[in-house]
Amino acid sequence: MPVHQADERQDSHVASASKQSLRVALLGCGVVGSAVARLLTEHAEDLAARVGRPLEIVGVAVRRAGRDRSETGVDASLFTTDAEDLVTRADVVVEVIGGIEPARSLLLRAMAHGASVVTANKALLAEDGPTLYAAAAEHGVDLYYEAAVAGAIPLLRPLRESLAGDDVRRVLGIVNGTTNYVLDKMDTTGAGFSDAVEQAQALGYAEADPTADVEGFDAAAKAAILASLAFHTRVASTDVYREGITEVTAADVAAAREMDSVVKLLAICERTDKGVSVRVHPAMIPRTHPLAGVREAFNAVFVEAVAAGELMFYGKGAGGDPTASAVLGDLVAVARHRVAGGLGPGESSYADLPVLDVGQALTRYHISLEIEDRSGVLAKVAAAFADNDVSIETVRQQLVPATEDGGGGGAILIIVTHTATDAALSATVEVLRTLDVVRGVNSVMRVEGS
Ligand code: HSE
Repeated sequence: MPVHQADERQDSHVASASKQSLRVALLGCGVVGSAVARLLTEHAEDLAARVGRPLEIVGVAVRRAGRDRSETGVDASLFTTDAEDLVTRADVVVEVIGGIEPARSLLLRAMAHGASVVTANKALLAEDGPTLYAAAAEHGVDLYYEAAVAGAIPLLRPLRESLAGDDVRRVLGIVNGTTNYVLDKMDTTGAGFSDAVEQAQALGYAEADPTADVEGFDAAAKAAILASLAFHTRVASTDVYREGITEVTAADVAAAREMDSVVKLLAICERTDKGVSVRVHPAMIPRTHPLAGVREAFNAVFVEAVAAGELMFYGKGAGGDPTASAVLGDLVAVARHRVAGGLGPGESSYADLPVLDVGQALTRYHISLEIEDRSGVLAKVAAAFADNDVSIETVRQQLVPATEDGGGGGAILIIVTHTATDAALSATVEVLRTLDVVRGVNSVMRVEGS
């Protein structure tokens, strides 16, 4: 850097340092909170220069006092268990505790005392976002939450701001790293679900209790937030159709591989002429689809907008530093508003579109059946599809040799459908289960992305 530029930079640091600090309160000092505190301390001068005023940590609320948190660089005297008091003493409150309470009460209290809020709390936003937005509007403060969905990946600001002039039709993403890691291991090693979860736990990708991830609750909360922003419509986590990955078997993953596809847990938010459809479930996608190449614990989100066309966002969806990057980006944004005046965008729910039942979603199914091998079987199976107005795209039959004890002797039938409503497809499967020529329905999986 030329000497005069370095001098100017130094001057601007000195100038911003001499200005009154913006008071930052941090709620939570776990993996993300400690990374936020450390990066805020390490990069204090640059952040002050970017904001125009220094950011001063006035307190860090923790559940248990007295632990050694020196790695954060924050003075030990600033750690407190009195979060209620702390939020009344700040210009910006950063919340990384998670969960509904006490986070909601603390953020409402912070806003009532005039603080802007930066939060990574997807569960709270997906359950009660409108209450937070209303409080932000009432008190004239900012509410930013980039870190709540897909960690480090800049995704909410593009939806909220960069694409605010476009017409978003679809958001299709892998927004949970734990399940992506598990499904990736099942695909690459042939492992079953439980073994893959154990590997993920051993490496720290999955929690000791992985329910929120493997049952799709985490992804459903993120899908609700994405759909709300994309479609200017309130969508809560309870509006999201949710299926996790606990029922995905090694045989499903192998069947996907035979179709040159891969199984992913997808969050799918779509706008149709009837309303919006928001769902989280495992699905097969072709290996040629950009989301199929998203390996291990990475996240990626595909956005389709009328004018922009197809966009893809990719990166780390979890972890201390990656999530802290998104938190700090929000902190700089709201701090800049404090310095320059004005506010970022508030809630945009003017479109108020109906949220459709999953039965109205359009999708395709991959169905594996064990059937009798005799005349008229295919006709009966085909009739179940025709009667429900579901068109078959491909059929593949594999004979199962008879065993000496009289077992086997049937066939495996793999059917992939054309697009139909989920209701029609699921009604078809119900009929198949009742047919005397069908010995069993081995697996049913949605097919997306082609
Ligand atoms: N548990 C989440 C995941 C990260 O596995 O992606 C936090 O949302």
